[in-house]
Amino acid sequence: MRQRLAVGNWKMFGSLPENQALLDTVAAAMAGLRKTICVVCVPFPYLAQTQAALAGSKVAWGAQNVSQHPKGAFTGEVSAGMLREFGCRYVIVGHSERRQWFGEDDRTVALKAKAVLTAGMVPIICVGETLSERESGVTEKVVGRQIAAALDELGSEILKGAVLAYEPVWAIGTGRTASPEQAQAVHASIRGLLAKRDGSLGDLAPILYGGSVKAANAAELFAMPDVDGGLIGGASLVAQEFISICRAADQTSGRDG
Ligand code: 13P
Repeated sequence: MRQRLAVGNWKMFGSLPENQALLDTVAAAMAGLRKTICVVCVPFPYLAQTQAALAGSKVAWGAQNVSQHPKGAFTGEVSAGMLREFGCRYVIVGHSERRQWFGEDDRTVALKAKAVLTAGMVPIICVGETLSERESGVTEKVVGRQIAAALDELGSEILKGAVLAYEPVWAIGTGRTASPEQAQAVHASIRGLLAKRDGSLGDLAPILYGGSVKAANAAELFAMPDVDGGLIGGASLVAQEFISICRAADQTSGRDG
């Protein structure tokens, strides 16, 4: 059975008092999850607070970026080993905002995923096309290139420890969600690419959808057979929205029922 996940990406939002209220409410509400792992990926300075608030709860936590280097003179960078010390289990890598604003290319993203895996955590590797790429009909080609870069660098065996996230750039923070059918089509094509390299990877890799997921649309997206949960931005900052989304991931059947 494929793992189902609902992952909140707080991006560069939060403050100590706001976080505390959000984390406490989410942790209390998630006690009843049956098959879904709920995760919050917070800004680096809030990892200690998050670790303290979520220890012993059913909610896991992680970061939104990492250095590809294990240590060294890299001012401003944070290593995977450091994240591990704060109890992180997940690290988002290759988010489109990192690719777009911080120049991360496919190879850098693959190296970051490798650093996360080497440190014993799970990378959430993001892929997705821009609006102009979708409109020119190259969505599957772009996503295929991004997936192939990870496969080439990591190999299919290692990639079995990763989670993938399909986030169409045009759907991020725009309120414009991919339809369940649009998401399913890309997820199925990603699964096909993975299966071509390694059948069990195709079967087992969790693929999350991200891009304007809300309580109101989560269930129909998560009910698609190749959508194993979500990567949630804005709605993960609103406790009741995020709780509803996590429950939707837990209650919809996806592929395995
Ligand atoms: P929104 O849910 O705010 O569209 O953000 C999606 C995202 O980028 C999650 O990583």
